[in-house]
Amino acid sequence: MSSDLAPTLDGLSLAGTVEKAEFSQRVLIRSIVNRPDGGEGLAGQVIRVGGWVKTGREQGKGAFAFLELNDGSCPANLQVMVDSEVYKLSDLVPRGTCIHVEGELKLPPEGTKQKIELRVLKVLHVGTVDAAKYPLPKGKISLEVLRDFSHLRSRTNLISAVARIRNALAYATHTFFQKHGFLYIHTPIITTSDCEGAGEMFQVTTLFSEAEKLVKEMKQSAVDPAALEAEIKDAELIVKEKGTAVAELKSAKASKDAIKAAVDVLKKSQEDVKKLQEKFKLLERVRLSAGLPTRDGRIDYSEDFFARQAFLTVSGQLQVETYACALSSVYTFGPTFRAENSHTSRHLAEFWMVEPEIAFADLQDDMNCAEAYVKFLCQWLLDHCFDDMELMAKNVDGTAIDRLKAVASSDFHRISYTDAVAILEKASEVKKFDNKVEWGIDLASEHERYLTDEVFKKPVIVYNYPKEIKAFYMKVNEDQKTVAAMDVLVPRIGELVGGSQREENYEVLKSRILELGLPLEPYEWYLDLRRYGTVPHSGFGLGFERMLLFATGIENIRDVIPFPRYPGRADL
Ligand code: 4AD
Ligand code: MG
Repeated sequence: MSSDLAPTLDGLSLAGTVEKAEFSQRVLIRSIVNRPDGGEGLAGQVIRVGGWVKTGREQGKGAFAFLELNDGSCPANLQVMVDSEVYKLSDLVPRGTCIHVEGELKLPPEGTKQKIELRVLKVLHVGTVDAAKYPLPKGKISLEVLRDFSHLRSRTNLISAVARIRNALAYATHTFFQKHGFLYIHTPIITTSDCEGAGEMFQVTTLFSEAEKLVKEMKQSAVDPAALEAEIKDAELIVKEKGTAVAELKSAKASKDAIKAAVDVLKKSQEDVKKLQEKFKLLERVRLSAGLPTRDGRIDYSEDFFARQAFLTVSGQLQVETYACALSSVYTFGPTFRAENSHTSRHLAEFWMVEPEIAFADLQDDMNCAEAYVKFLCQWLLDHCFDDMELMAKNVDGTAIDRLKAVASSDFHRISYTDAVAILEKASEVKKFDNKVEWGIDLASEHERYLTDEVFKKPVIVYNYPKEIKAFYMKVNEDQKTVAAMDVLVPRIGELVGGSQREENYEVLKSRILELGLPLEPYEWYLDLRRYGTVPHSGFGLGFERMLLFATGIENIRDVIPFPRYPGRADL
């Protein structure tokens, strides 16, 4: 087939029924194959598509090739047929090849499973792949192996579906909060206060890189610190000697010229000492910059970039509270960092958190908001990502869609910590938990999952935890033993959301900070929110990747974030 004789995009206007991608001359594969008629109604149209070949095979003794093309717009592929007269087929069929082509949509012969296919008229671009060198192994690859290919794993059906679901959940998050009048606040990533008071923060410092630079400078000028110190001592002795010489000449009433000459020598020796001392100061800076303790045994952070100790945030809560205490309903949604050495399938060192904060709201309001939000997310996926969810149900977890439906449509169970512990204590009479159950413990993941998976079989909100196991900012209840905290626990995952009503009483908050052995200074600004126009308020944090685990049924949190960071691993 000669492309000159065939209809072309330039000669034909695209029929109104096919939706062209914006900012590109192509049509998204989604808008062809996701139509209710599977694309049949578009037969005869000439369009451009681009994508990566999932599978390609030459047929008819090399006369033509079929390519399964995917452009990431949906899980389904478009079947593309290329004649050997149009392009060299062996360059198109390897898995991973990128093509941008123009062709005519045609009905395939009766009996084939495709509703529509594209017959290529013109090849606009080819990004070839040497099949022998393509890094992704052939056939079924475990998610664990795929983690070694962070830069290519988005080309697999599963990881690209996760990416679309993740995107949908982010969009749904903004939709939910915007719909309910919340303002999106960007809280800082670099902070000087530890929100959870747990000391699990990554430090941000330029001391080490500066030290490296200085050490290099020192090395270039070949300075040996011990030799330098000795040199300074010698030079100081010379200054002393020269000083004495001047004094002696003066008392012996020597000639003006002789005294002047001696004074000049003295000045010169004093300058030498000064120069050496400057060099030594540079050396001292290297020590400081390398984070080596100074003479009083402390690291001098006034030398550091921010002139004080700084960290990556573990939560945007404290900062977003400042805006809640002025704009009433706000939320932040950003990356958070925890330097806990957890190797579990539920923890990351870098993860995303959605944190709303509501003024004039108590713990009940907080629970209502969290429940409505999680249900909204589940319904959103059913409404907007059904094809990707079908892929999850087929390949990962057969119950994924039913779970979303159940969560979206039924109420969460709410139970106080005290009652939850009573249930667990009773259960431990017959069931063996690895961690002992008694009032006062922090619920372990096995306890949380017992409540959600075995007792209630749905999301459970546990509230009013013992104050000893919760953060300083949570409101102390009247019993003085518990705080107005709440955790949303979900089947298979355990904790999805952690939140609380905040302590709005200045005195109580201050004594909680001290009680937990935290320094007051970094929290003075936070206390100001209580000093001036304090307001009862509540909020929570939803772990975005935990939500993805819950929705998709994927086992390991490292597979639901594009570039996972965990102990020993920070690729790309
Ligand atoms: O319960 P957490 O620690 O609560 C806070 O940080 C509060 N300041 C939030 C707030 O009230 N604004 O964390 C909130 C959620 C957890 O429920 C969990 O889903 C998730 O963040 N999370 C993690 N997700 C992945 N990896 C980790 N290491 C996580 N740590 C917490
Ligand atoms: Mg928590």
